[in-house]
Amino acid sequence: MRKEDYKIKVLVTGGAGYIGSHMVRMLIEHKNSVVVLDDLSTGFQKSVLGANIVIGSLCDKEFLDSVFAANEFDVVMHFAGASLVSESVINPAKYYSNNLIGTINLLNALNKFEISNLVFSSSASVFGIPNYLPIDERHVQAPINPYGRSKSIIESILNDYSIAYGIRSVSLRYFNAAGASLDGKIGELHDPETHLIPLVLQAAKHDQEFIIFGDDYDTADGTCIRDYIHVLDICDAHLLSANYLISGGETCSYNLGNGNGYSTKQIVKVAEAVVRKKIKINIGPRRHGDPPVLISNSNKIKNDLAWVPKFFNIEDIINHAWAWEINSRF
Ligand SMILES: NC(=O)c1ccc[n+]([C@@H]2O[C@H](COP(=O)([O-])OP(=O)(O)OC[C@H]3O[C@@H](n4cnc5c(N)ncnc54)[C@H](O)[C@@H]3O)[C@@H](O)[C@H]2O)c1
Repeated sequence: MRKEDYKIKVLVTGGAGYIGSHMVRMLIEHKNSVVVLDDLSTGFQKSVLGANIVIGSLCDKEFLDSVFAANEFDVVMHFAGASLVSESVINPAKYYSNNLIGTINLLNALNKFEISNLVFSSSASVFGIPNYLPIDERHVQAPINPYGRSKSIIESILNDYSIAYGIRSVSLRYFNAAGASLDGKIGELHDPETHLIPLVLQAAKHDQEFIIFGDDYDTADGTCIRDYIHVLDICDAHLLSANYLISGGETCSYNLGNGNGYSTKQIVKVAEAVVRKKIKINIGPRRHGDPPVLISNSNKIKNDLAWVPKFFNIEDIINHAWAWEINSRF
């Protein structure tokens, strides 16, 4: 394909990670030109299918300048960051330097190279313990750990850069990303894994016990309730956000979830149906900083950008994750 045949030119930071690698594939399927920037701290080069990857860190300003000097971009999709909540509590320095300084370096490069469109991976963790449910964009931000705080501060910085330098952005606050590519070639891969669905499925696959972190929450069955959103629906929201920005859209933030809450015990039940066997469970202590219930109200992005989740059925989400676990996990 000739260069001029591409639709848009996209820099994907963190494109070797779980969500970023699905984004890269979707962008390429839609005939966009993609460059991945990743330091491979938690990502995997083999997850990057069909795109150029430049390996280096957002914390390295000279490296960043060299990437922007060598390429033209219409939009930057910024997934790169450290995202382990518990690690952020014991090592906040890592989260503030990697997530905050890395993002500020990226924004300064955008300013220098006159790129004005950025889609940012924010998180439900900006809200902390919710005052009401489902959580809409008007809900106060009161993060309860350095990871969530880093995301919340970045959102404020994005607003300031928008006003001062005209870098417009969409912050997408994902709730719990889950699922995998439909062909099972790429899927969720974190080390250590802290997310519920891959942990339950790995317990099933290896006939191990799955530990539930607390069953004494104020919920119907005592376990935490979360809103699971398919990784491909997150990618769709990014494409819509990129088009919105390219056509002149203003800086804004959207909550991104399905609006359905599932308890940990309900997820185990659905997973048992998908894998067709009983999963051994045990009850452990609560994990520090886990809100009892997180459910998104995503009406704003549905109304503004016509985002429609395609894979909202929890069985489909777990089925896709299971296909990745059993067939293709590398
Ligand atoms: N997975 C979720 O449920 C979820 C929920 C809300 C928000 N998010 C956010 O979405 C983004 C992607 O999440 P993920 O689950 O795909 O994480 P991931 O760890 O799989 O991917 C992050 C990628 O960023 C790269 N990276 C990290 N720091 C970097 C740096 N300084 N320079 C260059 N590359 C760097 C890593 O190597 C990795 O490939 C993160 O910002 C995360 O905070 C994820």
